[in-house]
Amino acid sequence: MTQKLKILLVASEVYPYAKTGGLADIAGSLPKALKQLGHDIRVIMPKHKCVVKCPLGMRPMGLDVTIPIGGTRKKGFLYTGHLNGEIPIYFVGNEAYFSRDPIYGTRHGDYLDNAERFIFFCRSVLEVCKSVEFQPDVIHCNDWQTGLIPTYLKTIYSKDKWFQNTRTIFSIHNLGYQGNFPSYELKTAGLPFSIFTPQGVEFYNHFSFLKSALVDADLLTTVSPTYAKEIQTKAFGFKMDGVLRMRSKDLFGILNGVDYQEWNPEADPSVAKNYSSKNRSGKLACKRKLADLFSLKIKDDTPLFSMVTRLSSQKGVDLVIEILDELLGEDAAFVLLGSGDSMYENYFLKMNHLRPDRVGVHIGFDEKLAHQILAGSDFLMMPSQYEPCGLTQMYALKYGAVPIVRSVGGLADSIKEFNRKTMKGTGFKFKPFTPDHLYQAVQKAMSVYRKKNQWQTLTANDMTADFGWDRAAKKYCQLYRRALL
Ligand code: ADP
Ligand code: GLC
Repeated sequence: MTQKLKILLVASEVYPYAKTGGLADIAGSLPKALKQLGHDIRVIMPKHKCVVKCPLGMRPMGLDVTIPIGGTRKKGFLYTGHLNGEIPIYFVGNEAYFSRDPIYGTRHGDYLDNAERFIFFCRSVLEVCKSVEFQPDVIHCNDWQTGLIPTYLKTIYSKDKWFQNTRTIFSIHNLGYQGNFPSYELKTAGLPFSIFTPQGVEFYNHFSFLKSALVDADLLTTVSPTYAKEIQTKAFGFKMDGVLRMRSKDLFGILNGVDYQEWNPEADPSVAKNYSSKNRSGKLACKRKLADLFSLKIKDDTPLFSMVTRLSSQKGVDLVIEILDELLGEDAAFVLLGSGDSMYENYFLKMNHLRPDRVGVHIGFDEKLAHQILAGSDFLMMPSQYEPCGLTQMYALKYGAVPIVRSVGGLADSIKEFNRKTMKGTGFKFKPFTPDHLYQAVQKAMSVYRKKNQWQTLTANDMTADFGWDRAAKKYCQLYRRALL
């Protein structure tokens, strides 16, 4: 019998309590798969303002932790709830730090005290383990907001008996977000200046929370095999490639899984009509509903393209902007749900204003609409500059919205080019980051759309592709055990 592991998964956002992107989906769903494998998995996150509104609820535990911050001490109040009815989740509450909306910053930029907020969070995580008497075998940290945990364990907590047998795994979800702060924040963190070296947490004269983890975690993972290779190169490394090459033996790429409890057109309460690969008639009802929602003037067979995305340059939005006029010229329609960079927001709002019959735009974050768009559209575009994994393209597969993607990172790993002869494959890919190459992929996609039998086979391939968590969760367990050797 394999030994049951005690695992603490740490993230700054966990669906459905808080979500700004794919990290939340992963932090909300990987634990379910680990639980199914029989492990004692628990989750911890900050008690952001939005957390309180989540219907899953929570209750105060009557416990608190006291954390030294610079010369002062700050209190964290503990709350708890359950994910999926059975997985304990802890929330660290501190009104001044976390009772904010949005969770990382406003339109004008990141919150100025983000270093302090996440120093507090990281150290609280360790203190919470003691307060709730949980002695984890593995602490699984995710992204820079959790990056100081491995460093605390290697410094201030190195002699702490509670953590003598605890190992850390750090998952990189996006190397573009690093949590780099002025060096004086080391003092806020109570960490010794001796670690502020190029071999340590120093990164171009900044104190980098991401680099802390890259240096100090026992093992590193990222969210697709291709991204694991890419980030060790200059082109994708965001200046961290050197450190990552140094840790190459400890770095693993595991493709994210999909939570089909949440993303399945057969049982999705958000869509106009449920459908499945076997009975697809509901998909047309969903397309009509989507056209209706955005007042588009389209026919049943008008190709409908969509994007559900953070509006950041990472997502290749510039390429879409370049080809949109041409696309509309081909008698297609386009729907976008997104928020982010105001330059992009304004552009799409303008297009919506100019072509309300063919361009539907919703600026904002809307979980239900995201499901409706995948259900109603024929194609999903994700021409990302880089993409650690990407979940939206895998969700799109299940909903029979054919992905058109740039062949990078997890997009390269999850989408196979459709071949008209063998009728195998799930989408359309291109490599050079140019509008022309995107447009060629779009044209290929449209010509398959017009051939009924090819289209039927392609969408059947998509809807039956399986990216469930089981495989990935087992790989994480192997790594947890490896860290413990
Ligand atoms: P990333 O994490 O880089 O944003 P992913 O594809 O991994 O990209 O995950 C994005 C997640 O966020 C998906 O669940 C997607 O549906 C969701 N999402 C992105 N933008 C929006 C939005 N504006 N409204 C609702 N959901 C969104
Ligand atoms: C990040 C990445 C995305 C990935 C997600 C979950 O936000 O940008 O590619 O799917 O994390 O791992």
